[in-house]
Amino acid sequence: MQAARESRQAAAFDHIGDRYDEAFPHKDGQISAGEWLLDRLPPESAVLDLGCGTGLPTAAQLAGAGHRVTGVDYSAEMVRLARRNVPQGVFLQGDLYEAEGRYDAVVAFFVLLMFPLDEFPGALSRMHRLVRPGGLFCLSMVEADLDDHPLAFLGQEVRVSALLRDDLRAEVEAAGFAIEEEQVLSYAPASTQAVPEVQLFLSCRRP
Ligand SMILES: C[S@@+](CC[C@H](N)C(=O)[O-])C[C@H]1O[C@@H](n2cnc3c(N)ncnc32)[C@H](O)[C@@H]1O
Repeated sequence: MQAARESRQAAAFDHIGDRYDEAFPHKDGQISAGEWLLDRLPPESAVLDLGCGTGLPTAAQLAGAGHRVTGVDYSAEMVRLARRNVPQGVFLQGDLYEAEGRYDAVVAFFVLLMFPLDEFPGALSRMHRLVRPGGLFCLSMVEADLDDHPLAFLGQEVRVSALLRDDLRAEVEAAGFAIEEEQVLSYAPASTQAVPEVQLFLSCRRP
């Protein structure tokens, strides 16, 4: 059941491919969350990008600054695009739960959206285990009150979940992260096949 849901979602992202970047071209919030990391990471840090998509902008931004970036995404097409866009990175096709190791920083931009709400605690604690103690974690989400809600997105049907900001903060703190900075932005996609949204960026540390 679970695996079938994930392969449907992965297939949707295979079809979306680089139209994702065309629909969301100006990722100012994501770039500034990347800058927050760059200001704090020692040179050549190990960074894990969960649900890395096309590798743009985040894997490219961090690898371009000399960090050792590993990206994980369950969509084969997204992994192909990320390898093309960020040749210095290492990109693996697989589920977020399969990611292993300890990283100086983990980023999860708009990937928790794709999980049902009852999986948020498990997914966030998995992310927590992947960050070394004292390491950094950046999460972004769309703000909404939705659970496994069908959404027409760039010609595909995906299922999305989201929380209001206080509830998201509580989940992130319950997983063991300390939130150091928060950014809230209104975002208008460049495509009529995606709706305007409020984006939340939480920049955190694993104490
Ligand atoms: C909304 S896109 C965000 C892409 C990128 N992080 C960004 O912000 O530009 C979500 C990405 O996460 C991937 N994804 C969703 N759930 C995943 C999971 N359980 N394991 C691995 N990848 C996942 C999708 O294939 C897609 O590329």
